[in-house]
Amino acid sequence: MSAPVEADVTGRRVLGVLAALPQELGDLVEAMRAESGVRTVTLGRRDYHVGTVHGTPCVVTLARVGKVAAAATVSALIHAFEVEAVVFTGVAGGVGRDVRIGDIVVADALMQHDLDASPLFPRFEVPLLGVTRFVADQSLSAQLADACACFVAEEGVTLAARFATAMPRVHRGLVISGDQFVASAAAVEALREALPDALAVEMEGAAIAQVCYEYGVPCAIVRTVSDTADAHAPTSFATFLTDIAGTYSNGILSRFLQARV
Ligand code: ADE
Repeated sequence: MSAPVEADVTGRRVLGVLAALPQELGDLVEAMRAESGVRTVTLGRRDYHVGTVHGTPCVVTLARVGKVAAAATVSALIHAFEVEAVVFTGVAGGVGRDVRIGDIVVADALMQHDLDASPLFPRFEVPLLGVTRFVADQSLSAQLADACACFVAEEGVTLAARFATAMPRVHRGLVISGDQFVASAAAVEALREALPDALAVEMEGAAIAQVCYEYGVPCAIVRTVSDTADAHAPTSFATFLTDIAGTYSNGILSRFLQARV
């Protein structure tokens, strides 16, 4: 295999870290700038920021919204940067009945809730790949869940008071992705009926997990619940994204990256 494009002095390959929107990344690029400086590579209308943050060599970027954007971005991370693994952070709509706004979901598995090539292939199955649920990397996801638990233990009470939410909880399970912002009681109920174990809905995770599966790259996905995918979702999402999402990302990613050093 040819030498990795991005590696630190010890030959350690970089970790790919991405989110859909800038607010979901928190201060990660600024923290990288302060710690190591940043080299920015522009590819396919995206900026890839290379450097070290919280002690870990990373390439940090924004996927933008939706499954195509996510797949294109993670493909570039794999091919142009030869990332050793991929971590995605962002917000999601809560689907599980006990998943509340402010809770955190670490994906064990991901699937596309809007993929339906039936009757040619079973509903939800990726045609010709024969996979419906993509399993997140167990070790990476466990590290991410540990970082979330630590963040909640250390900052949960302050967060709940500051943002007037319940004490955050960390869930692990199925995250579902589709090219729709889900924003009605009927739509979220239909998702619950079709996929009773789904915890959260978003628009990128399963695409990232599929590309990582196809190239054998470990991936993990963490989502903070910004809304409950009902009629209140647009306002709840907008407020959460502006006021809160960055605090969660900073708190989770700093602990996760420091623990990898
Ligand atoms: N991301 C955050 N909230 C969402 C929702 N309700 N639907 C899809 N993606 C989301």
